[in-house]
Amino acid sequence: AFVVLDNCIKCKYTDCVEVCPVDCFYEGPNFLVIHPDECIDCALCEPECPAEAILSEDEVPADQQEFIALNAELAEIWPNITEQKDPMPDAKEWDGVPNKRQYLEK
Ligand code: SF4
Ligand code: F3S
Repeated sequence: AFVVLDNCIKCKYTDCVEVCPVDCFYEGPNFLVIHPDECIDCALCEPECPAEAILSEDEVPADQQEFIALNAELAEIWPNITEQKDPMPDAKEWDGVPNKRQYLEK
């Protein structure tokens, strides 16, 4: 499956949801996740993310392995999102800021 990573936090551009053929994105307050059992590995979302926050699970860097389990866990709790919406208000300022995991709201 594909995985949403650290740099989505506080940006949440949502371009990714528009292209997903199986609508497997789930939305929290300041982050999106992919349901690993629903993702069909089409790879369409990866180039759509302006924050480059989506990778295949076998490409997830060592320091972001935690996000594989986080996507699985939060996809079971958060509501489905199928249409693009406005990004977070300060998305541009937060894009590229390292280690945003501490700001993840559940
Ligand atoms: Fe959806 Fe394809 Fe991205 Fe999986 S890889 S989340 S199926 S767009
Ligand atoms: Fe997040 Fe990128 Fe989608 S910032 S909401 S993974 S387009």
